[in-house]
Amino acid sequence: MSLRSVDKIKSEHQNLPKHIVIVMDGNGRWAKKRFMPRTAGHHAGVKATRKVVEGCVARGIHALTLFAFSSENWRRPEQEVSSLMSLFVTTLQSEVKSLHEQDVRIRFIGDCTAFDEKLREKIQQAESLTINNKGLQLNIAVNYGGRWDIANAFKPIAEKILKGELSLEDVNAELVNQYVSLADLTEPDLFIRTGGEQRISNFLIWQLAYTELYFTDVLWPDFNANELDTAMEWYSSRQRRFGKTGEQLQDTNHG
Ligand code: FPP
Repeated sequence: MSLRSVDKIKSEHQNLPKHIVIVMDGNGRWAKKRFMPRTAGHHAGVKATRKVVEGCVARGIHALTLFAFSSENWRRPEQEVSSLMSLFVTTLQSEVKSLHEQDVRIRFIGDCTAFDEKLREKIQQAESLTINNKGLQLNIAVNYGGRWDIANAFKPIAEKILKGELSLEDVNAELVNQYVSLADLTEPDLFIRTGGEQRISNFLIWQLAYTELYFTDVLWPDFNANELDTAMEWYSSRQRRFGKTGEQLQDTNHG
């Protein structure tokens, strides 16, 4: 596998993203173009996922968060939903051991209570097996929605207010930030969406406030380490200002 970007970006002292998040879109269209059922597209999507996870490990990326199933995906035909659920179970069965050997920590974000017992058990096993791993922090969003995430953050805050442990004046962005998903990780640097749509689709809407957004027409099953390099090269050329002016940043860089 080529690591062209990492060497190039590092040699130019440019930034590598620490945390990449991906909306893996286009499985269905990939299958349709080949006159195959949509489920074949999802199977091909798993292969692409493996390549990208391994690519992130090889490139020393700290965290990767993947949108595998949104809270809106339940609206799909029942047969597609149930085949996606089986695919998640078999993928966890076949991949977790190798991910563990690569020092990958696996975590799931989203409301897992909606899944059947078998899937919840696999999720729990993957999380507890890899809990101490220090390599790539791999987060898989399942039955996840950004609005759900923000609403959920307010429950423990409200509870603390009711108990008198917090006052209304304590409620600010920093506080909410502590209760949304992935609070312990560095905020996403690079958002990638495959499949040609230019939407965030209720993914990590709180966490993406300052993230660079990259959209590509490549369908998810065709995405690979080379495509990842292209996205990372695009990211390394972006100037992240976090509300400051370009001149202020140049002063900081030279100071
Ligand atoms: C979007 O393509 C893809 C999904 C809803 C499923 C994503 C799941 C995978 C790629 C499998 C990864 C598995 C794990 C365990 C991480 P789409 O069906 O919306 O495609 P379309 O827009 O072309 O119809």
